[in-house]
Amino acid sequence: MNAPSMAPRPLRWGILGCGNIAATVARDLRLVPDQVITAVASATPGKAAAFAAIHGVATALTRYEDLVVRDEVDVVYIATSHERHFDNARLALAAGKAVLCEKPLTINARQARELADLAQRQGVFLMEAWWTRFFPIIDLLLADLAAGVIGPVRLLQADFGIRSSWAPDHRMVDPARAAGALLDLGVYPVSFAHLVYGAAPTAVSGQMRATDRGVDAQSSLLLSFPAGGQAVLTSAIDVQVPHQARLYGPEGAIVVDDFFHPSAYTIHPRGGPARRIERPFPGSGYQFEIAEVAACLGDGRRESIRRPLADTLAVMATMDAVRDSWGLRYPGE
Ligand SMILES: NC(=O)c1ccc[n+]([C@@H]2O[C@H](COP(=O)([O-])OP(=O)(O)OC[C@H]3O[C@@H](n4cnc5c(N)ncnc54)[C@H](OP(=O)(O)O)[C@@H]3O)[C@@H](O)[C@H]2O)c1
Repeated sequence: MNAPSMAPRPLRWGILGCGNIAATVARDLRLVPDQVITAVASATPGKAAAFAAIHGVATALTRYEDLVVRDEVDVVYIATSHERHFDNARLALAAGKAVLCEKPLTINARQARELADLAQRQGVFLMEAWWTRFFPIIDLLLADLAAGVIGPVRLLQADFGIRSSWAPDHRMVDPARAAGALLDLGVYPVSFAHLVYGAAPTAVSGQMRATDRGVDAQSSLLLSFPAGGQAVLTSAIDVQVPHQARLYGPEGAIVVDDFFHPSAYTIHPRGGPARRIERPFPGSGYQFEIAEVAACLGDGRRESIRRPLADTLAVMATMDAVRDSWGLRYPGE
């Protein structure tokens, strides 16, 4: 017999920060049974009320402090920009709430460790919203790799570059907001490499091309993993690059398009015909991370087995290491 569910039904969400991603996630949350957004908070005047009206949320607040103490909030989704995650997640964890926090969890490993320790002391759930991990196709990919369809992965290449007209105070470009390609976009290829190799790298190196404000416009990383595989990873905020991951082993290759939110991959076995694996999904794809949080809380777990905090900490440590080699520091470090 299954253990009785420990999560309240419906699971009641509070959203902290009412920006772009909060709106998309709020829409996808409707795709998961037994989930409801009971309150939202925005520090920007008028934004929470407008968000609540659009998404049918009963309570709109102007102070994050008022959100995290609401009885009708079981789990807080932190949807602010990354330089604020540490303070915002700490606030919610200290109030005893479960937390799903947008990627990157924090700006460095020290902050991430502090949050993980606080969650443990408080006995509450914490997970980074690295949504990539929870797409159904990712489990199929990991199973295919474990079955040896291309043999042991020897080389992984993954790229994430976008070009846009960022406002000077945008988090992508403003050094005061921990800007740069690596932290915001590079976190995807770095996390993907950690996932595929199932370990933290044994050696990390990289180079960057700086913006005129001194953060990385482009980052190129080379990681070596314990079993000998390597990852070559790039990210950029001023050039468009296909968001593709390519995995090579002695028995073939696998190509994952849009690897940060994938619905398919193609296996190219050595000497055999290509085979395409597809798992299309409705919505934008954030429903899978929402379902993971609901499942974890239903089982009374304090972290996700599929995306444990140790993995998030390892990724942050990798990014810290390469930044150290560049001498790139964020405010407060
Ligand atoms: N998983 C994904 O696919 C995905 C996609 C996009 C973004 N993200 C992540 O989600 C987070 C938010 O991204 P977003 O695109 O939604 O950002 P955004 O719309 O620019 O900002 C989100 C919220 O952060 C707060 N904020 C932003 N700029 C601020 C500033 N200068 N001063 C004070 N508060 C500010 C605001 O909170 P208030 O509403 O309280 O004022 C804003 O509503 C980032 O960590 C990003 O990396 C993830």
